[in-house]
Amino acid sequence: MVSKTWHLIGSPDELRARAPFSVELEGHSVAVFHHGGRFTAIGNRCNHKGGPLCDGRMRDEYVVCPWHAWEYSVFTGKGPEGYDEEQVPVFSVEERADGVYIATPPAMPGRLLAHKPSHLLEEHPREPGAPPRVLGISTTAMDDANPRYSTSDALLDHALAYAKDALGCDIQHVALRQLAFKPCEGNYSKHASACTWPCAITERDADDQLIAVYEGLVHWCDVVLIASPIRWGNASALYYKMAERLNCVQNQVTIGDRVLIANKVASFIITGGQDNVQGVAGEMLSFWAELGFVFPQFPFIAHTRGWDAEDMDVNVRLVKASTALREASAELVTRAVNQWRVIDAHRDMLLQPMERTGRKAQRLSHHGDVQVQAHD
Ligand code: FES
Repeated sequence: MVSKTWHLIGSPDELRARAPFSVELEGHSVAVFHHGGRFTAIGNRCNHKGGPLCDGRMRDEYVVCPWHAWEYSVFTGKGPEGYDEEQVPVFSVEERADGVYIATPPAMPGRLLAHKPSHLLEEHPREPGAPPRVLGISTTAMDDANPRYSTSDALLDHALAYAKDALGCDIQHVALRQLAFKPCEGNYSKHASACTWPCAITERDADDQLIAVYEGLVHWCDVVLIASPIRWGNASALYYKMAERLNCVQNQVTIGDRVLIANKVASFIITGGQDNVQGVAGEMLSFWAELGFVFPQFPFIAHTRGWDAEDMDVNVRLVKASTALREASAELVTRAVNQWRVIDAHRDMLLQPMERTGRKAQRLSHHGDVQVQAHD
């Protein structure tokens, strides 16, 4: 039988005022609660991704993990009915004359069922010699039951058709407006490690359709073309809704030096009646570079008629009639595919270990805090 060690952690009055809180006891991170008139102690690390249970809110006897809302009874450590085969460790607690004691090791160890891993975690080795794969993402919003002519969509369609017919690529087209997906819930703002890959929304909600974008970007494509209209000087609202959900891809670099996007090329098609092409393109280049994409020379094409133009019907007629823009979209995808072919031919040279990938020079500590570097 394993011998117990009892640890005095404080007086009942003091602990009632502090609870819930966490305490480290012989290498165990223990969450202490005062619930239903009793002190209880369970493991502080959530079974899912290690969220700090002492920071969760209570739902009856269950503490709700602050990161992605898994729940555990503060008495039994088990999940609610239906999830009660899983458990975080439970520690014995005693109120004695001189204070409250917690025993280590736990009276009940944690238990985690083997979950089927998301298929987004599977490796997808590329067949040597397979044709380049070009993914087109339309970020234009419209009512598909009552469609209108979108200039950025039209140029994207032309580029994809050219990639297929003239360049021999495999193509996929994703229209964000046809996907039902939730906005990012901002788990990163709770803790760097709370923004997970696969995205917690994707894991939780089988109906969330952004998985088509995740699969396309991380596993399928070699080249991505992103098409956006300009809306009040910015990319489309759907573009930003997607971009926020891609934080989980970039964040793998930040928290684990895990580069999900490598040796892939991105290019952009940006059109609008009014201006700010360079602002939209600049922001896109920065963001997609942070995801891990590289770019061909002259990585975007764009069209606007400038600040004074309000006659959008004329703009549509101009784009429809423009051979130059269609040729430019074909040239853009050709540059992108050629860039990828060069990369593909030098894969081994490019697959260097990168200890400090991402946009920040500092590494994260395991607590998620940026470590301050000593300066020369
Ligand atoms: S629910 Fe606790 S870490 Fe995800």
